[in-house]
Amino acid sequence: MYFIANWKMFGTLNSLNSLHKVVKFFKTFKKNKALKIIYCPPNTLIRPMSKKLKNSHLIVGAQNCHQNETFGALTGYVNSYMLKNVGAKYVIIGHSENRRAGETNKLINLKIKSALKSRLKVILCIGETLQEKRKKVTKQILKKQIRLGLNKIKNRSDILIAYEPVWSIGTGLIPKSNELYETINFIKKNYKKYKVLYGGSVNPKNINQLKLINNLDGYLIGGASQNSNKFIDIIKKSYN
Ligand code: PGA
Repeated sequence: MYFIANWKMFGTLNSLNSLHKVVKFFKTFKKNKALKIIYCPPNTLIRPMSKKLKNSHLIVGAQNCHQNETFGALTGYVNSYMLKNVGAKYVIIGHSENRRAGETNKLINLKIKSALKSRLKVILCIGETLQEKRKKVTKQILKKQIRLGLNKIKNRSDILIAYEPVWSIGTGLIPKSNELYETINFIKKNYKKYKVLYGGSVNPKNINQLKLINNLDGYLIGGASQNSNKFIDIIKKSYN
């Protein structure tokens, strides 16, 4: 199971102080062979976090990258090669917060290609808005996001898909269990061999409900992942 922490634009060097709790938890957790913990902090923390997590089996990733894997005169941007260089092993691409800010499926496709070239593994985020859910076009939307996002990409082993309904991110709402099961099944049937995670308001309470959905390969966790105790609680409960 994957547990991916998406810190978004939160965190300073001080935020790294509680990571030892998660490192210790991982070491002593009996089922840790089947567990992958990946932290995606802001870019400013990738290097110090990688140093802190050295030899811990916890992995560091990034939250986005520019589509050019070469250097360029692009003020304020960071590419996949640079992220890899400071210790990232994964990168989240296509998060709805970035789609909302203008990222298209085509741009996302270019970003994924550049990340793979830099030998980063990719967490591709997909998900429908509330409006799309109401219109009952969720499946079409997801299919389109995956088809265009993964256009001409063959390397399935280095890509995870994170299904994150836009309406569930940061709202405390999660999909009904049967609906989530069906959606994950739909993705897996259409795009065989991809690991599929769920993201959107995962917390220590609703994990008891989410863990019963047995076709999930893990979770992408935002808010709750910034607190080491909550994050550990989620992982523990999902194995109980
Ligand atoms: P949330 O965020 O857990 O705070 O809802 C999830 C995400 O946006 O990846």
